[in-house]
Amino acid sequence: MNATPEKTILVTGGAGFIGSNFCRYILEKYPAYRVVVLDALTYAGNLSTISDIQNHPNYNSRFVFYPGKIQDETVVSGIIKAENIDHIVNFAAESHNDRSILEPGSFIQTDVYGVFTLLDATKKYNLQRMVHISTDEVYGTIDEGQFTEKSPLEPNTPYSASKAGGEMQVRAHGITFNTPAVTTRCGNNFGPFQYPEKLIPFFVTRLIDNKKVPIYGSGQQVRDWVYVMDHCSGIDHVLHHGSIGEAYNIGSEGELTNMEITSRLLKHLGKPDTLIKYIPDPRGGAHDKRYSIDASKLTGLGWIHSYNFEQALEKTVQWYVDNQEWWREIVATEDYQVFVRRFYGKYLGEDL
Ligand code: NAD
Ligand code: DAU
Repeated sequence: MNATPEKTILVTGGAGFIGSNFCRYILEKYPAYRVVVLDALTYAGNLSTISDIQNHPNYNSRFVFYPGKIQDETVVSGIIKAENIDHIVNFAAESHNDRSILEPGSFIQTDVYGVFTLLDATKKYNLQRMVHISTDEVYGTIDEGQFTEKSPLEPNTPYSASKAGGEMQVRAHGITFNTPAVTTRCGNNFGPFQYPEKLIPFFVTRLIDNKKVPIYGSGQQVRDWVYVMDHCSGIDHVLHHGSIGEAYNIGSEGELTNMEITSRLLKHLGKPDTLIKYIPDPRGGAHDKRYSIDASKLTGLGWIHSYNFEQALEKTVQWYVDNQEWWREIVATEDYQVFVRRFYGKYLGEDL
């Protein structure tokens, strides 16, 4: 007979990039925890992303998957009751800026209304805590200095505005109903299982096939890169040690320009810089110039990041070289091909 688990965590969006890595992290670190995933399996969520967990001898008895949407109150309630959920960690989101430029409306349902549904369930079923995964993009762009948790929220894209809307629900439900929720804001993640539309996996998968990679504008925009397992350990720290009602930045001093990242990818793969193609910036005025995260509030609670950036990047590139079956299945889907044609067609032409 199994001992009662110490926690049963509902991980929403657990079949996506960061959510699936968080499931692995939790199941490995806490042998007495159970993880229940609710995921709508949108274009970005794939069962192939969690099949290693479902087949893992140490994890499979503590892991359950449910297909469904977070904004479906009946589904969320049913899972909470059936699985005795006591915590929620919400990763579920429409997460890509470029898609939010093509179809801004679709982001509101998940990133705003879905967050409300989870907050409402947290209150209704007296859950111990909900951790809402937000992003540094809610702050907008910063020329100098760093974002602290007290920086104003000035989102510039439909995606980041939808994330800010979700966060405002978290804040208001905490104040109005005492709902025990907390928010995290991390920078750009990289690592295994990232959907190949984001800069690093998009470029790596194209470079492996000797296809050109499109740099938006000058390529001098700065992102504050975080290895996904450091993001997961930061969320774990907030789950166990963060104060209800607070927001916490998660960062590891990983600022680089897009050109600097691209040069490293070319070097690791042994590819020439003639594969770079500069294109007019498709994000235009909404393209944030720089993100920079001050994570001292969380490090003050004892969290430290543990991965070396350069080694983690090299390891990540190698993961895409070694796991071509995973991403080739995705890039062959109609959704992926339609998106790439729609978004990049006019810029890449015959290099598409
Ligand atoms: P992703 O796009 O890879 O995964 C999102 C997952 O959510 C997918 O599995 C998808 O099927 C699922 N999903 C989408 N809509 C849903 C719905 N209505 N109901 C249930 N499931 C749904 O995203 P990611 O990069 O793993 O990001 C996860 C979270 O972290 C997001 O909230 C994102 O805003 C945030 N974040 C991402 C980054 C980053 O660099 N990727 C950085 C900071 C914060
Ligand atoms: O900062 C956190 C955010 O990071 C998360 O909230 C988002 O979910 C995540 O997608 C990411 O957003 P970005 O828009 O910064 O990531 P993306 O990988 O799409 O782009 C990174 C930078 O690279 C950005 O300046 C745009 C540029 N870029 C991107 C692509 C896909 C290019 O120059 N060419 C490209 O083809």
